[in-house]
Amino acid sequence: MRFIVCSDYAEMCAECTKQISAQIILKPNSVLGLATGSTPIGVYENLVQLYQNNELDFSGVTTFNLDEYYPISADNTQSYHFFMQSHLFSKINIKPQNIHILDGMPADIEKECRDYEKAIVRSGGIDLQLLGIGKNGHIGFNEPGKNLNATTHLTDLTETTIESNARFFKNVNEVPRKALTMGISTILRSKKIILLASGFEKHMAVQSLLTDNINTQTPATMLKVHPDVLLICDKEAYEG
Ligand code: PGA
Repeated sequence: MRFIVCSDYAEMCAECTKQISAQIILKPNSVLGLATGSTPIGVYENLVQLYQNNELDFSGVTTFNLDEYYPISADNTQSYHFFMQSHLFSKINIKPQNIHILDGMPADIEKECRDYEKAIVRSGGIDLQLLGIGKNGHIGFNEPGKNLNATTHLTDLTETTIESNARFFKNVNEVPRKALTMGISTILRSKKIILLASGFEKHMAVQSLLTDNINTQTPATMLKVHPDVLLICDKEAYEG
């Protein structure tokens, strides 16, 4: 795993934006795996800016988001559908039919997960997967545990994740207790992975990622088996 330590959040976002723009310029029909949460917001702002300056064209790009709460409807303002529309998709020229996000209210959960995996394969596979990291070391909603599900699946969220995501909701009781998420093996099939980490609260997770052997208690350590992972973090996340 390579890593870049940036002085602050803005520099981390600028570095990540460079990587994603290069990917799209070199391969205009790139398939991107996208993440939600606070961390990538600055990256999405930069990408929108590049689009508005006519420096980036998303017309050939396909996207797959990592995860979605369950149960939640796409028009709920806390859904990741809503997040992606408001931070990125409504502001760039991506084709709506090229956007893929797991349905938070599927009639058949297993079919939804199976179909998502098939759609990724049909697209040619994810060229570049963007990831955040949870305080507990999760990637997507692959929470620490004895076993980690390999492919897209429904999962229970841990108390740590529910508490940390409560900041986006009126109160902690409103945070869904479950989510649909790409699995570790879905993520590892991406050709290139960029993991972002910002702020002191991510230090323990980053330290564990950099120093611990592969283990299921820090799901991000699974990334060590992948040949092309770039961690971009700021000084606070790196040094604590
Ligand atoms: P955050 O979430 O970007 O809101 O910190 C990251 C994650 O939980 O994966």
